[in-house]
Amino acid sequence: MEVTPVSDIMGAEVTGVDLSVPMDAETQCALRDAFLKYQVLVIRDQHLTPLQQVEFSSQWGELEIPDNVQHTHGDSNRVMILSNEIRPDGSAVGVVDGGDFWHSDSSHHTVPSMITILQSVRHPSKGGDTEFCNMYKVYEDLPEETKAKIEGKLGVHHVSKVKNKRVTVSPDRPGAKDFYEMQAKTREDVLQPLVLTHPETGRKALYCSPRFTLGIQGMTEEEADPILDELFGYITDRKRRWHYRHKWQDNDLVFWDNRCVCHRAVGGYGLPDIRCLHRTVVAGDRAYTDQQAA
Ligand code: OGA
Ligand code: MN
Repeated sequence: MEVTPVSDIMGAEVTGVDLSVPMDAETQCALRDAFLKYQVLVIRDQHLTPLQQVEFSSQWGELEIPDNVQHTHGDSNRVMILSNEIRPDGSAVGVVDGGDFWHSDSSHHTVPSMITILQSVRHPSKGGDTEFCNMYKVYEDLPEETKAKIEGKLGVHHVSKVKNKRVTVSPDRPGAKDFYEMQAKTREDVLQPLVLTHPETGRKALYCSPRFTLGIQGMTEEEADPILDELFGYITDRKRRWHYRHKWQDNDLVFWDNRCVCHRAVGGYGLPDIRCLHRTVVAGDRAYTDQQAA
């Protein structure tokens, strides 16, 4: 197995492994070390069936069962389909335009997702990249006064897009508006530390996103907004100083660490071009607000 960084900032490509077969303990250890070091791993030319993807993903921990049952794969309810394909009856084959604003997966849950694993099944002829932002580096490069402002503070996260003035609802996803309206009524705010100490590396990362972080606990909107806007400005930074952009090929398998990475789907493709990926998610093993208590 060989590990080659894909940029100076984050991400590495791993070659010489076949993820469709069980891995020996030594390879597994080396892969985990690379994952913790580079945050995003890219492994090309993988041909995992949905069950093999579940098998590989399960090496990292318990898998989440997506609540979006309409879009899970017939072979396993652990595999979610991301796709822009629409059936003749108007229904979607998978989640359309998932992840179109910067976020860390499930930070709106008390126990957020740990690792997200995507395998590209079919890639459009243009567009469809995924961007990643290194949240350790963003944190490290924050001005000291900003670090002081956010230390020990909790971000207020919510899943619904209609509660969030910084995002818009994709017109291409059937039923999205009603879905988000329903979530606005039924889902609760969740608190997360703005500065997250990674449980495995011990490094501090900025932990918030324009998609899910709506406010800061104990602050009015007027007080929180300038701070959040500054923080989000680093994630959306035009110069992409802390970023890696993945250009997919069919059969790429890419996985990332949600504890120290924000990501977004860039878009820029459309029917009849089809983008389809299979997604598995390793569940988190803790609530991060416990750090505050500890
Ligand atoms: C996700 C996600 C981005 C993409 O699967 O969590 O945000 O490029 N995907 O599909
Ligand atoms: Mn995502």
